[in-house]
Amino acid sequence: MTVLVTGGAGYIGSHTVRALREADREVVVLDTLELGRPDAVLGAELVVGDIRDAALVERLCTDRAVAAIIHFAAYKSVGESMEHPGKYWHNNVDGTATLVEAALRAGVRDVVFSSSCSVYGTPQVVPVGESATVQPESVYAESKATVERVLRWYGVTDGVRSVSLRYFNAAGASRDGVIGEDWTFSINLVPLVMKAVLGAGPPIKVFGTDYPKPDGTCIRDYIHVEDLADAHIKALDALGTGGEQTMAVNLGTGVGSSVREVIDATAAVAGRPVPVEEAPRRAGDPVSTFADPTHAEQVLGWRAHLGLPEIVETAYRWHASAAGR
Ligand code: WQD
Repeated sequence: MTVLVTGGAGYIGSHTVRALREADREVVVLDTLELGRPDAVLGAELVVGDIRDAALVERLCTDRAVAAIIHFAAYKSVGESMEHPGKYWHNNVDGTATLVEAALRAGVRDVVFSSSCSVYGTPQVVPVGESATVQPESVYAESKATVERVLRWYGVTDGVRSVSLRYFNAAGASRDGVIGEDWTFSINLVPLVMKAVLGAGPPIKVFGTDYPKPDGTCIRDYIHVEDLADAHIKALDALGTGGEQTMAVNLGTGVGSSVREVIDATAAVAGRPVPVEEAPRRAGDPVSTFADPTHAEQVLGWRAHLGLPEIVETAYRWHASAAGR
């Protein structure tokens, strides 16, 4: 049973490919390398190409006897999606429909989809469960919510079985330091804090220190990328179980951490202060969001094992190494 991993040269994709191979699953990766790195694909074939190339997708699924797809390939910048929405509709949404149509022609019906907690927008209640209102607040988030619905409808029309995994804040690097996040493209907190403390970037701007929270900064659920990778394998095995054609599952630790806690943990690991600049609140930032991990444990038999200490330690070690720069 070969798994086609689209976007498998990316951050979460490459860690998932590695976990699949360590679990003796056959893998073929399809990636344009627009955002991914070929050296991040370990122990699996990398085909450089686009999910929108229907003939290539169908040929890959047939020639490699693909039985399921883990679909990461997407654009993922919230800010960019508001300036260039067309990129996100064409690639994230239409690209997925092209991918699924081509896979169906090759008899492939099982899809694990890389979704996002950003489909919830600013959650009304925390911790956030899967029944929380889906109310995206960006084109990026809307593209993720839309793909979830497209997959649900392919379940109705063509028997596609899908699990959409709604990641909270993915962070960290492999514990053995072999792969990690490419901070070239990332504007997320953890890689930017590492850049600041390693002197590879400017001081970290703290977007708001006057929130009604213990230390005045926003709360997020930081989830280690290797815990996320493990969840994808469990999602593959959960496809179609319990009579569910289509599922959505939150992937988080259930623990909220503040921006200040991330910065302080980084300073402790680095053994020196993190250069910081206080800045105004960022529009659209929820004050606090973290997952209710109950459903993931029930339907996937998965829960996170790593926490903020391991996230900060592995991210720091990765970015301090030559490979991580
Ligand atoms: C985290 C916290 C900022 C940068 C991301 C993805 C989203 C989804 C969830 C996958 C916030 C603060 C940040 C900085 C700061 N994941 N911050 N200074 O916005 O929670 O969402 O994870 O799809 O798609 O975008 O992540 O890392 O931008 O921010 O103070 O320079 O850090 O205000 O509280 P976010 P983030």
